[in-house]
Amino acid sequence: MAKNHDILNDRQEIRLNEDGLQIRYATVKDIADIQNLLRITWHHTYDNILGPEKVIAISKLWHSHERLENDITSPDCHFLVMNDKTEIFATVYVRYQGNDVILGRMYVHPNRQGKGYGSELMQAIISAVQLRHGQRISLTVEPRNQSSIRFYEKFGFKIIGTGSCSEVPYDGDPTLIMVRESVSE
Ligand SMILES: CC(C)(COP(=O)(O)OP(=O)(O)OC[C@H]1O[C@@H](n2cnc3c(N)ncnc32)[C@H](O)[C@@H]1OP(=O)(O)O)[C@@H](O)C(=O)NCCC(=O)NCCS
Repeated sequence: MAKNHDILNDRQEIRLNEDGLQIRYATVKDIADIQNLLRITWHHTYDNILGPEKVIAISKLWHSHERLENDITSPDCHFLVMNDKTEIFATVYVRYQGNDVILGRMYVHPNRQGKGYGSELMQAIISAVQLRHGQRISLTVEPRNQSSIRFYEKFGFKIIGTGSCSEVPYDGDPTLIMVRESVSE
């Protein structure tokens, strides 16, 4: 797994344009900003589906400082953020788990959704995975989160069943598993 570090070190900064728009690897210093982004986006996405209390409870577990720090520093993860000169407004990560690549934390701030940022970030993380292995990528999604299911389908993910491929326990409704088969690009 040491190879992941080589890629991280080589590719600390992926893209930067003249407006300061940047896709880069997250650092531990970003954790408070990432937690804030996840809190806002989770309430916006899931309050109507799960209810605000459950959102708070799951967030507390999944977005803890410890868990984010582990995801950011683990040699088995690529954790990307997108920011402009003022704030981090999108995240995504993949975790290598045995022969699987698990994608998660795909969130764009509600004020920035529908502007192509999520697509850019998804392309960047797919490139990171293809560079390393060209493996298939799995994710889980809430069945009622139809707009993100459509988003993932745009990138070649297909629903293959229900269950969980997440490393984090989830006690809600059965989630959908979507898989994007390995493609050479
Ligand atoms: C799903 C998400 C990551 C997509 O990122 P985005 O920046 O909004 O998406 P883009 O602008 O790059 O692409 C939009 C495409 O995805 C779809 N889409 C998904 N969610 C959308 C939204 N809230 N607003 C607009 N388009 C959305 C559209 O069909 C669009 O397709 P098109 O390019 O053919 O018009 C983002 O909307 C988001 O964070 N949603 C809430 C959190 C969430 O559900 N995350 C996934 C958890 S499993």
